[in-house]
Amino acid sequence: MIEPALVFLEELAFVSALRSSTFMYPLVNAGHILGVSLLIGGIVPLDLRLLGLWRRYPVMMFVAVLRVTSAIGLGLAVVCGALLFTTAAVDYAGSRLFQAKMGLVLLGVSNALMLARVLRRQTVQNLAMGASMPLSLQAGALLSLVVWFSVLILGRLLGFF
Ligand code: HEM
Repeated sequence: MIEPALVFLEELAFVSALRSSTFMYPLVNAGHILGVSLLIGGIVPLDLRLLGLWRRYPVMMFVAVLRVTSAIGLGLAVVCGALLFTTAAVDYAGSRLFQAKMGLVLLGVSNALMLARVLRRQTVQNLAMGASMPLSLQAGALLSLVVWFSVLILGRLLGFF
């Protein structure tokens, strides 16, 4: 039922052009990697701060800056990733690695939204410099690190299997 839609997607004129282009495909791939870099480059320091590193600096300082760069990175990774997907939609959709990667992206996004909600509920004392974060935030930060690194590794493996 879904296969004809995927074949239709693969056969669109701009997708065929992207697949066979010497410059466009690497450019979209570079956009995907830029998005991934921004996402991971924001998530890692943010999660490490929630786990207790750099307590001299207010946690909300990390949150204010890094949630924006991470969200932009995720947006770029999703848009460019979706374009890469269209070039071989049937194969990717049937790949267990790709399915696992998408499942983990959804888990990572849900976890990030949950962390944002818990953070909004914190008192000023909890967020003060030097205070350690509640266990729920620390567990969420650890899960976030594991999930996004796994997505990164699965993404890289996709090119080999
Ligand atoms: C909805 C979101 C995403 C989609 C649809 C998507 C899709 C893809 C596709 C189709 C490829 C090409 C695989 C190949 O070489 O055959 C790819 C590569 C890759 N993806 Fe994603 N991706 C998404 C999000 C992410 C995220 C969030 C990360 C990292 C945290 C990530 C990390 C990677 C990496 C590292 C590669 C390999 C790049 C390379 O070596 O050229 N992807 N992705």
